[in-house]
Amino acid sequence: MSFLIVANWKMNGSTEMAKQFKESLEAYPAGHNDELVICPPFVYLSLLRSHKYRLGAQDVSKFDEGGAHTGEVSAAMLVDSGCSYVIIGHSERRGSEDNDIIRAKIMAAQKQGLKVILCVGESEEERSCGRYLDSIDRQLNNLAGVDFQELLVAYEPLWAIGTGKVANAGQLVEVADFVMSKYLSVSLAESGSCGILYGGSVSSESAIELSRLKQIKGLLIGASSLECTRLIDILNAIC
Ligand code: PGA
Repeated sequence: MSFLIVANWKMNGSTEMAKQFKESLEAYPAGHNDELVICPPFVYLSLLRSHKYRLGAQDVSKFDEGGAHTGEVSAAMLVDSGCSYVIIGHSERRGSEDNDIIRAKIMAAQKQGLKVILCVGESEEERSCGRYLDSIDRQLNNLAGVDFQELLVAYEPLWAIGTGKVANAGQLVEVADFVMSKYLSVSLAESGSCGILYGGSVSSESAIELSRLKQIKGLLIGASSLECTRLIDILNAIC
């Protein structure tokens, strides 16, 4: 797997923004786009569809059969809209989602062949009292039936999301080694089917150092992905 840059637009965007991104990214030199995944809100997915980069969704329904589920979007619909990735369990959603829901969502997504980016991360308090690995472990536990060998785990400490604070190399490597040794397979990570991403206040400056860590297979980027020029700066920085 080449180094992955995943743009998480969260609840931002417009028709105009989607069109401008598509145009700019399609003009971006070929060769770097394989690694780029744009995750806009559901309603803009079809506007951003392109063979120059990948599309991802920010969430998926836990229901894997279509039917009477008002407001839900299924994994099959995401595939139909051109998605190959889906973010699941982002900390901004975990308030209303327990591990059972997250597990069902991952299984529904994997059944349709979507690559799942599962977000995990500890709070500031858990970090300061030294219980961060327990917290991450709890988020990865009880996911029976999930294919971990096809899973991308995004380490996103809550204290780093949108705060301007980036986890340092030591913190990142410790968590990545823990998750890799307990849940993922090193050999499959080398071949690219599973691996660890990092997210939390990534900028073009921090992206360079982060991309050099061999434990990290990619970056999940929020605020810095909302302007196409900043996103392209990040792509340029890591190439
Ligand atoms: P941020 O968000 O880059 O704005 O910190 C990252 C995320 O929440 O995925």
